[in-house]
Amino acid sequence: MQTENTVSLEVEIERILPGGVGLAHTEGMTIFVALAAPGDRLTVTIDRVQGNVSFASIKEILTPSPVRVEPPCPYFGSCGGCDFQQMTYEAQLANKAEIIRDCLRRIASLEKPPDIAAVPPPKEWRYRARATWQVDQEQDSVGYYERASRRVCDVADCAVLVPVLQTTLEQVRATPPDALPDGLKHIDVVVGDDGVSLAPEFADFHTSEVSLKVLDEVYRYNAEAFFQINQDLLAPVIATALPNVTGETALDLYCGVGLFTIPLARRFSRVLGIEANPVASRFARRNLQQAQLGNSRIFTSTVTEWLRANVRTLGSVDFILLDPPRAGAESTVIKSILDLHPKRISYVSCDPATLARDLKKLLAGGYTLDSIAAFDMFPQTHHVETAVQLISEDIS
Ligand SMILES: C[S@@+](CC[C@H](N)C(=O)[O-])C[C@H]1O[C@@H](n2cnc3c(N)ncnc32)[C@H](O)[C@@H]1O
Repeated sequence: MQTENTVSLEVEIERILPGGVGLAHTEGMTIFVALAAPGDRLTVTIDRVQGNVSFASIKEILTPSPVRVEPPCPYFGSCGGCDFQQMTYEAQLANKAEIIRDCLRRIASLEKPPDIAAVPPPKEWRYRARATWQVDQEQDSVGYYERASRRVCDVADCAVLVPVLQTTLEQVRATPPDALPDGLKHIDVVVGDDGVSLAPEFADFHTSEVSLKVLDEVYRYNAEAFFQINQDLLAPVIATALPNVTGETALDLYCGVGLFTIPLARRFSRVLGIEANPVASRFARRNLQQAQLGNSRIFTSTVTEWLRANVRTLGSVDFILLDPPRAGAESTVIKSILDLHPKRISYVSCDPATLARDLKKLLAGGYTLDSIAAFDMFPQTHHVETAVQLISEDIS
């Protein structure tokens, strides 16, 4: 019997799975190997066994994958932030597209998922405009959690941060301990065209809120509200998520500070945005007001609660955009969407597995897949953004 961390096994990586691990089989075991590349021949050690699956770490690279490269970041492997630096960028893109297709096949039960080419951003490094930095004041460490741990990896230079955030990281690291807020455990940071916002606020190298212009619309926000990490891809994501659609009523579920609400409000007579975080919903209201769009309303509520209270009185809805967090939409939300039966649904997702789970229900509920596009918002990690368009079978 295998015991954890005592036995070395030789494996060959078959492919990369959703979650970013490499899949291998040997001696009747299914093994998930962290930081692997497809085609690697490796010696691995088992860290943990969960049900039928063993989770393993690389001990030695016997034959490197043809797409394996030397990870350039000195923290790679110990920092929990990036897990794809061991592959060429082309291989990262190809594997992300395959991860999405794998989820569509296995989870959404689509027999022949369409070919997908993940759209790359202009920058593979120094793209990240929002981050959460963990702080361990006893160890004097600022950075990200270590892999599979709650210990803080002390990071002086993060190669995926936009330059202005790298400078902010250095300013935070140079702040004397007695100038940091008591009990500080983590810092949220976000960039705009006009500066950096920090939560919690301290020192003087930031502003209380920032703004960003995307496709001629201006969005204000701060580090307490969600904003997309990769600002260079926002214009194509918005254009894809909102194809040539117009009509009477549209819903923007999980609307954040209104990234999609504003362009929707230019195309529909009435737009209702739902957002649980009161800081984000306040910004969304202000952003609509600044854009002089009086045809939209933002509700501070969970989507589940709001739909439960309003689904029967809403009347006809033409278009629903949903952009939920990684966990996807709650099953009651999918049920309410099917009850409302809009002509079109636009689903923006940062997790292909939960997207596929929700798509399966929507496809079974009377919708067909119109288009699917992927955007590499998060180079050097296994994460990928997907935008799916669905059309009601009544009109398709
Ligand atoms: C992936 S973000 C998308 C935000 C926005 N669409 C954008 O692109 O900037 C998900 C948003 O859902 C909000 N949220 C999370 N759980 C929620 C829930 N149960 N009901 C409503 N909003 C929720 C988060 O605060 C966050 O703003």
